[in-house]
Amino acid sequence: MKKDRISVGIIGFGTVGSGTAKILLESRDIIRERAGFDVVLKKIADLDIKKDRGVRIPDGVLTTDADAVLNDPDIDIVVELMGGIHPAKEFMLRAIRNKKHVVSANKALLATEGNEIFAEAGKQNVEVGFEASVAGGIPIIKVVREGLVANNIVAIYGIINGTSNYILTKMTNEKVEFSDALKEAQRLGYAEADPTFDIEGIDTAHKLTILSSLAYGIPLSYNEVYKEGITKITAQDIDFASELGYKIKLLAVTKASNGAIEMRVHPTMVPSDYLISKIDGVFNAVYVEGDAVGSTLYYGRGAGDMPTGSAVVSDIVDIGRNIMSGGILRVPGIAPRGAQKAGQRRIKAMEDIESMYYFRFAAMDEPGVLSKISGILGSYNISIASVIQKGRRIGGSVPLVVLTHRAKERDVISSIKQIDALPIVSDKTLFIRVEGSGE
Ligand code: HSE
Repeated sequence: MKKDRISVGIIGFGTVGSGTAKILLESRDIIRERAGFDVVLKKIADLDIKKDRGVRIPDGVLTTDADAVLNDPDIDIVVELMGGIHPAKEFMLRAIRNKKHVVSANKALLATEGNEIFAEAGKQNVEVGFEASVAGGIPIIKVVREGLVANNIVAIYGIINGTSNYILTKMTNEKVEFSDALKEAQRLGYAEADPTFDIEGIDTAHKLTILSSLAYGIPLSYNEVYKEGITKITAQDIDFASELGYKIKLLAVTKASNGAIEMRVHPTMVPSDYLISKIDGVFNAVYVEGDAVGSTLYYGRGAGDMPTGSAVVSDIVDIGRNIMSGGILRVPGIAPRGAQKAGQRRIKAMEDIESMYYFRFAAMDEPGVLSKISGILGSYNISIASVIQKGRRIGGSVPLVVLTHRAKERDVISSIKQIDALPIVSDKTLFIRVEGSGE
């Protein structure tokens, strides 16, 4: 008899788990209509099944025992929404070895352990859905893997961490310092009590690892992503940036040039008139440029129960369709098989990238200082595009801001080392990479 339903078990009944359950229960009819089969929420496992999650779960569905999901022969798809690396990884591998398809929103797990998980899934001929792992409700995985399959991906630029985007937006709009903006983000529940993953660029790097792998067919290479967070950005830098015509955003960047792939996360000055610089608050946006399609931009909520649940359910329906049609692994998981071999494409060392740069020097306000600094920059072939110095402080240091033309990161690092050793420079120089059409 032809199968007419797909059974789902969820492990992890937190924010995303409850959003997913809500959608599966409340939108069951519309899902059945669209998919042509019923999606049944058979089990939800969590250690705490007493807490009110704002969704009414039918009797017999909730359990405190993950094995009840992993070993249920009826369950076709296990949805891992518990987060963290262990025991989420072990649960996923057990589900896969039990020939169950899996869906996960766990970017940290996929970015760091995903090569093993996808290899095992390939061996067992099951699918791993991960639409919810990058940019929450924005269907960016599908875009890069399917919608833009005809394209060589020229570059991807993403604002893919809502917490840091909220903090930078608040610093920009209300002229407050980083620590006050972070406190507000924590008060509103946008930032965790330990905000390290969000503010140090780690969460962004997890998501970028996944996007780079999809775009360029490389193994998941989290350890090779360059990461720099937003903690050193001051309200003053945001002001200078604005005066120069830029906004500061935490960008995830991946691009390919001459067979080498860049993967980097860092605060970036983006021209104020670019669409991506207008993405404010907790929203996410991903800009993807393909050689055939040109520029494309995707915008939406990158977190939250319902947006992320929306992405989880789209994976469930996709996998369900493949089960029904006998098309398992019709679309390859993380990268086309065969392109997965390490070393096929080189990942560019950070010092080999080129960019425009913003420098904020803490320089003494006395004659000859600018020429000393510009002399060192010139000796490294770094050309100055504009300079700002505001205010006077006799016998003290003032910020001296320099915007450069395109330069090599290696030269920037060396020149700053030399400049910071000058007696006329009282503090470490801050630099921010600058995007835009300039040369
Ligand atoms: N902490 C993440 C963010 C949640 O701020 O975007 C979604 O991954």
